Amino acid sequence: MVAITRVKESVKTPAEKAPEPNMGSEIIPKERYISEDFMKLEWERMWSKVWLIGCREEEIPEVGDYVTTEIGNESLLIVRGEDMVPRVFYNVCNHRGNQVKFDECGNSKTLQCAYHFWEYALDGTLINVPDEEDFTQGCPKDKLSLKEINSGTWAGFVWFNLNPDAEPLMDFLGVLPEHLDPYHFETMAMTMNVTMEWDCNWKTSVDAFNEVYHVQCIHPELSYTIDDVDVQIDLYDKHNRYLVPFKTYSPRLGEELDEVPEGLKQELLQIGMDPKDFHGRVDEIRRAVQVYKRENQDKLGFDYSDFNDDQLSDDYHYMMFPNITMNIHAESMMMFRQRPHATDPNKMLFDVQMFVQMPEGAEKPPLPDHEQHKHGERSLGLVLDQDSVNLPHVQKGMSSEAYQGLWISSQERRIRHMHKTLMDYINGEHANDA
Ligand code: FES
Ligand SMILES: [Fe+2]
Repeated sequence: MVAITRVKESVKTPAEKAPEPNMGSEIIPKERYISEDFMKLEWERMWSKVWLIGCREEEIPEVGDYVTTEIGNESLLIVRGEDMVPRVFYNVCNHRGNQVKFDECGNSKTLQCAYHFWEYALDGTLINVPDEEDFTQGCPKDKLSLKEINSGTWAGFVWFNLNPDAEPLMDFLGVLPEHLDPYHFETMAMTMNVTMEWDCNWKTSVDAFNEVYHVQCIHPELSYTIDDVDVQIDLYDKHNRYLVPFKTYSPRLGEELDEVPEGLKQELLQIGMDPKDFHGRVDEIRRAVQVYKRENQDKLGFDYSDFNDDQLSDDYHYMMFPNITMNIHAESMMMFRQRPHATDPNKMLFDVQMFVQMPEGAEKPPLPDHEQHKHGERSLGLVLDQDSVNLPHVQKGMSSEAYQGLWISSQERRIRHMHKTLMDYINGEHANDA
């Protein structure tokens, strides 16, 4: 294992408001959520053209380590080569089409298909065919080696793009590296890795985390720990974010609190602040947390010097088009990855991965086991359980004859922005850069 070292960033996460694009106010067609034809278009023009997260780099630390992952109908094999480079292949043997690996992860010296033992090197080259002389047409390596897919690494993740003519990963990510490198996701340790099968379209889930309009309704407790009104929304080229003040309370409560609510008390205690020592107004706690963390960073084991004050208290919430949602804090990150079902627009896979920042010099703990469950078989914690309750019902409602489409408010405009990017792909607007 390698001890963690972090390089200080030359850039800091910009906090300023981005200019607002004019996106109109039309209804968003519900067919994008329920139609099999639209699902096929999405695959052909979007999923097979964009950069997607495959796995964490630390899932394949050694030569020969591999993981398999699914996107839509495709299974992909991600392998660490002899040269330590991670490569991504279609997980299919070019003999009779068996999947080269069936398990989620493992380590192999070579990649041998279990059916007739065709054998591929870790770089995908076909190296052994039993009874090769029996193939009268020959077994040309250039035709029969594993088909490699464009791949790259950023932020501790291995990314892939099914498009052979993909734009460079960094171009696709746009502003994200500049915004997020100060968080050093690459040195964070994964503490939870759960996949849930949900009965809704993948966008139904993305939408649920792209607005705070629902917080007052389904997360009433959060009104006592976050401000769901003074939320800055920034819409960039393909991706977007909102900045949500935490360690405070919601103006929707309609009154000034004169006692520290229990939820906030617990959050203070977690960072070593005793609520009894705090004598200011409750709406001054957020600022006090920022000052406390800055002054006590050594005791807390973090270096906050790359962060602005708001990043020490707030949720910098990013949506990486098309399917990554991140709740980002100075010391932790919660990532949701929404994946489409292979054939059914009414189903999806919801991956939850939690990460915590590691102190300088520490080693990452072992990876958590990956769990996969059907909806409701496992709790994801109060807030995510609350979020997931509505989703199958939204999906069902959308298929009703009576439902017209998505009627979007301004505070929900990240949803409209996501649809604009999606439709740019569907209409070929990104054809030259992806
Ligand atoms: S299908 Fe792979 S060796 Fe035959
Ligand atoms: Fe929510």
